[in-house]
Formats: sequence, structure tokens, C-alpha cells
Amino acid sequence: MGQRSHDTGVVESQHGPVERHLTSTAHAGEGPRRRSPLRFGVATSAYQTEGGLSSNNWAAWERARPALGPGHKCGSASRSWEHFEDDLENLRWLGVDLYRFSIEWSRVEPAPGRFDDAALERYRSWCVKLDAAGITPMVTLHHFTEPLWVTRKGGFEGRAVIDDWLRFVAEVLDVLGDVVHTWITVNEPVGYVVQGWVRGEWPPGKRDPRTAVRVLDNLLTAHADAYRLIHADAQARGSGSACTVGLAHHIVMFRPRRPRHLLDRAIARSVDRAYNRATLEALHTGWLTLRLPGLHYQAERPGLVGTQDFMGLNHYYPLVVGMRWRGSGPLPWVDVLPAGPDQERDDLGLLLDAGSLVEAVGVVSRYGLPVFVTEHGVCDGEEPDRRRICHLEASLAGLLALPSHCDVIGYVHWSLVDNWEWTFGHAACFGLFAVDRCTGRRTPKPSADTYRRLIGTHRDGSS
Ligand code: BGC
Repeated sequence: MGQRSHDTGVVESQHGPVERHLTSTAHAGEGPRRRSPLRFGVATSAYQTEGGLSSNNWAAWERARPALGPGHKCGSASRSWEHFEDDLENLRWLGVDLYRFSIEWSRVEPAPGRFDDAALERYRSWCVKLDAAGITPMVTLHHFTEPLWVTRKGGFEGRAVIDDWLRFVAEVLDVLGDVVHTWITVNEPVGYVVQGWVRGEWPPGKRDPRTAVRVLDNLLTAHADAYRLIHADAQARGSGSACTVGLAHHIVMFRPRRPRHLLDRAIARSVDRAYNRATLEALHTGWLTLRLPGLHYQAERPGLVGTQDFMGLNHYYPLVVGMRWRGSGPLPWVDVLPAGPDQERDDLGLLLDAGSLVEAVGVVSRYGLPVFVTEHGVCDGEEPDRRRICHLEASLAGLLALPSHCDVIGYVHWSLVDNWEWTFGHAACFGLFAVDRCTGRRTPKPSADTYRRLIGTHRDGSS
């Protein structure tokens, strides 16, 4: 494995320019726009699919829990590190415009400042092949994982991690900057801190809302700094106008249990403000403000303003919430209610309501940026995957019926393949393709056919 040390601050590419077929999404000041055809894609993340990763925060978390059954350990995941050619063939067959995947930091920088050339080159070869197939690579830099050496230094709980993070981003840009023009800096910062530092269900397993807010603050700074670095790199290469950078926001539609009940409505509003809007506002106003019972946090962060070229939107479900009187846990006053037995639910018990995607678009679109649905999908392990098909068809119909001033520029389905799911392990099936975990063989599900047909129909209709 070719290793080398990082040359500080070098962001020039060693690779020649590659012809782009992407147009910029930076529209500010361009006057009225015609609605452009929706761009379709599918998404995965490195730890959930690649397999064989043992030196990040999640692998350590699994090791620390010997009681976890094999189905809960990531292990060889979907074997995507070796099966990229199969995935590429399937992407072609689907007819997608874009493939969203993430770079595994622990793989490319196994020790501080020591980079794995072969790993970076493999990611580069994926991007080159995607590009040659007319499929835009959309690359995520942080999708819930970090190298163990970062965790051991306190990870994103401290500010010091930002220097490590920027060194990693600079190295990725050095190798991929000429072939990748569409970036997601951080995936779902709020979801990550809520699971890891509020609910304690993900690493580092803490229930400490004060630290959670600090981690969120640091992740947003990491995002903004990466945004500037990516754009500076693109400018230096002369590809500034093609470069587009966003953050993937996890938006949950919180609905009051009793729509007319004042307290239930107040709870829904309060969790909506904390979970959805605080981050959106921080990136818009430069103030990160959180007001929850027992927790007031306000920090002025002017550097966050103007650091999104589009709004990345990850949306899956609405949640019904209400007032809880004698609860325990980190948010003791919030009751989250399961979907009713008479309602259409996914395998995780979450309500399938196609209208909520359009509602979530409404939440992020008020900031005047184009909206890119960067994740949306269904956990459905049944054969045939009828619920995935119905939900996909209905959700897309809603999206396509939006008036043209709602500037939705893309839809990315989660996920290309069945993969390892953070809380539920291998039991949760989100893929359009099933994976034989021994051989890595991919088999299309009926929903893959549906998605392929929908993409084709949309393309024919808008050409
Ligand atoms: C995450 C994915 C995850 C998906 C389904 C999203 O919030 O970004 O990593 O697999 O939800 O739970």
C-alpha cells in the first residue's frame, strides 16, 4: 500500500482536467430561471457498503459490544470496495444522472498525516469511470464516521479536529478535485449528534445535550471551512463555475399528536426548531441558537453564512410527538408516538406518508437556494418490495407536481444496494438491489425496475 505524508496546504492537482457535463447550480443574480429537468441519483455511504473497515469510531463501537450478534456487525457490509464495477453497471442500467457516495476518512488517512495513495486512487478511478459513463459523482466527506485516531483526540467535541479535517479535505481535493465538482461536506450533522450525544445510541454513546450542541457547532464550522477550501481549490483549477457544495440536512416533519392541543403543538414546534431549523438558521444568519428546557446555547458564527450552493435534503418520515408529563431520558418532556397499526409503515415502524417529502422541501426551500433531495427511501425487506415501489412513485409524483418556483434540482434515492444500517445492522433493507453478502452478487428488486422506468419517463417527458 503506497503511503505518503501530506504536503501541507497543497491543493493543486497532479491530474489533468476532465471534461464536465455538469452545470453549475449557483443561480444567485441570474434572473428568472426555467425549471430544469430533475436530476436523478442513488446514494450509499462508505462504512455502510464498502466492508473491511476496522479503524473508525463505528468499528470500535462494535468491538466494544461483544454481545452484538453477527447481523449487527458491519463486517464485509455490501462488499462494495470490490464490487464497484457491478455497481457501475447497475447505475448505468438504472439510467441515473448521479451517484452519491462517501470517502472513508479512516481508509485514506489511517494515521495522522499519513495518506493511503492506493485508496485515494481507487476512489479517483471510481469518479473517472462514473464521469465517463455520464454519471456525476457526488462525494460526501463526512458520513457519520471518523478515524479512531480522531476519536481518541476527542473527535468533533473539540475545535482542534478542524485542522485534521481540513488536511483530510485538502488531500481528497488534491486527488479528486479535477474529477469531482459536486460535494456534500457533512451528512446530517443534527442526526449524528442527536444519536451519538443525546440519545446515546451511536458512538460515543453519550447522553449529554451540552456536548451535543458543541459537536454540532464544530461540525458546522468544519462544513463552512471545507466549503471555502473546495471553492478555493476549484477556482485555482479554473473550474469554479462547475463547483457546487452543500450539506445534507436531515429534516423530520414533527406533527402534534393532537393537532388542536396547545401543549402538543408547542412540543412539535420546539423540536422542529431544535432539530430542523436551528442549523438552517445558523447557516443563514450566522447565529447558532438553541433553546430547549434546561439548555440555552447561542454562538455567533458569521463564517457559516453563504456556505451552501444548494440545500441538501435527506427526508424519510414524519414523526408524531406530544407532551410527556413524567418522562426520563435526555428530552423527558417529548413523547414520540409510533405509527398506528392501520397506517402504512416501513420495517422500522416508521410512517410512510408520501406527502411529507413535499412538506420537507417547503422547510428548506424558504432560504432561496436550489433544493437537492440527497436522500429519501424506504426500509422494506419484503419480496416484492411493494411499499418501496408505492412510496417512491407517490413521493416522486408529489415532487414533480411542485410549481416551478420551488427549485428542486435533484432526487437521490437511498439506497443503491442493501447495506448495513447504523442502528439495525443488516436486518434493515433500503436497497434497490439485494446483495448476497457472501459473494457480493447484486440482484435487482422490482423497485429498481420502477425507478428505472420513472427516470426514463421523466427524461422522455422533459426532452
Ligand atoms: C442516513 C443513512 C441511513 C438512512 C436510513 C439517513 O439518515 O444518512 O446513512 O442509512 O438514513 O436510515
